[in-house]
Amino acid sequence: MYSEKIIILDFGGQYNQLIARRVREMGVYCEILPYATDASTWKDASLRGVILTGGPASVYEDGAPRIDRALIDSLKVPVLGICYGMQLLNYLYGGEVESANVSEYGDTLLYTEDSALFHGVQRATHVFMNHNDRVSRLPEGFASHAHTDNCPYAEFADEARGLYGVQFHPEVKHSVEGTTMLENFVRGVCGCREVYKAEDQIETMLRGIREQVGGGRVVGGISGGVDSSVACVLANRALKPGQLTCVFVDHGLLRKDEARQVIETYKHNLGLDIIHVDASERFLEALKGVTDPERKRKIIGELFVRVFEEEARKTGADFLLQGTIYPDRIESGMGGSATIKSHHNVGGLPKDSLFKKDHIVEPLANLFKDEVRAVGEALGIPHRMVWRQPFPGPGLAVRCIGELTREKLDSLRECDAIFLDELEKAGLSEQIWQSFAVWTGVRTVGCMGDGRSYTGCVALRAVVSDDAMTVEAAEIPYAVLKKTTSRIINEVRGVNRVFYDLTSKPPGTIEFE
Ligand code: XMP
Repeated sequence: MYSEKIIILDFGGQYNQLIARRVREMGVYCEILPYATDASTWKDASLRGVILTGGPASVYEDGAPRIDRALIDSLKVPVLGICYGMQLLNYLYGGEVESANVSEYGDTLLYTEDSALFHGVQRATHVFMNHNDRVSRLPEGFASHAHTDNCPYAEFADEARGLYGVQFHPEVKHSVEGTTMLENFVRGVCGCREVYKAEDQIETMLRGIREQVGGGRVVGGISGGVDSSVACVLANRALKPGQLTCVFVDHGLLRKDEARQVIETYKHNLGLDIIHVDASERFLEALKGVTDPERKRKIIGELFVRVFEEEARKTGADFLLQGTIYPDRIESGMGGSATIKSHHNVGGLPKDSLFKKDHIVEPLANLFKDEVRAVGEALGIPHRMVWRQPFPGPGLAVRCIGELTREKLDSLRECDAIFLDELEKAGLSEQIWQSFAVWTGVRTVGCMGDGRSYTGCVALRAVVSDDAMTVEAAEIPYAVLKKTTSRIINEVRGVNRVFYDLTSKPPGTIEFE
């Protein structure tokens, strides 16, 4: 498929997706795999290098995730260990690791010497550290070319064997020259030459859909977001007329006026065969009394599948098309990393589902969001659809804390619409990755008119990001926040207080649940 690839072995670190992002941004194809994945599935002629990620374990600990030194010796391509990955290499090749007397977290000054990873890098540069353990003695044949005030071996290399390690995280943006260092590894040390572009994969994706589906029939889940739109347009192009039916499920957790807008856009702009199912009563009934965020997600995920099954039976389909993208799979625990959130379209298939595992069609499962957008543009999907803000599959359920009721959801929809309207009027919408209101479930005392009120609090969330993996709160002008607050309190019943959320990700997430 690609003539060159980098494999990233996942040891459970929280920034592992970012490593893959950076490598793809350089135009080099890469995949993240759980560290224990059988090497025969990824060791092939296209392999150019391997990156061992960070992770929370300590190398000497019982049960610490490890790979065999024999595997590394057999690879015949360069290996870069990052944080835990470096400590693991050090351990496997006979060095020593110790618990650092001073742990390093966050921005740290790194002193470098000229070496393979530091070509073109300043001799003092800011990097992002996040570690308790550190290398205390290098294995034979290794040399170090970088240190910090508290870490004597912040990098090492055994150039003869093609082994490299860094204690810091070059993939995190706070490592100011981290991308150059990763590029030095991927392009310099591993010698990757190819320029990978997601949109060049369209033909391969079309072929993949045709091979998987054959003459079968497919129902395609449509949410109105870019991922499912691109997946459906791809499948529509790949398959013969009548093979694909797109299903838009209104789960009652959509934003104000969203169902109408989505249906109109799909019919008029994309010419897809689309069925609109109003299942809002069923979803709200199934979610009655449920407050736990993961249970909400699971219930919604399962009910979605049931509704798709019903529609599939009507058309005789037994394939399900989904817009699952790479981060959905990784965040749902596909790699070695912890499950952050169960994305509703990953692994949510009930055991007795009509759709068998190999009948799930996910043409975008290896792409990041910006790659999906590039594919969408290349397919001629209108710009405003391609750049629509992401909206989570579970919809307002993960923006309404506590039990869901129609009243709360209706109020939330009004607050949300007011915030989006004010951002649009201020000309800010395009710069924002996602913006929305959240029903916090908290009630506070206020005075409205001449009386006491004891009603709901709404949080406003607006974030800027490139990829949803790291985000900052958007710097919305005070006047816009003030106007939004005043409109919400005046126009929406049951709200007497409004907050603006300043939390970045990490440590927060974009959604509240
Ligand atoms: P978090 O809240 O994890 O969100 O920072 C990252 C991005 O993913 C979206 N999101 C989801 N999308 N199904 C989806 O299709 C889900 O279950 C889901 N949960 C979060 C979120 O809106 C943000 O863009």
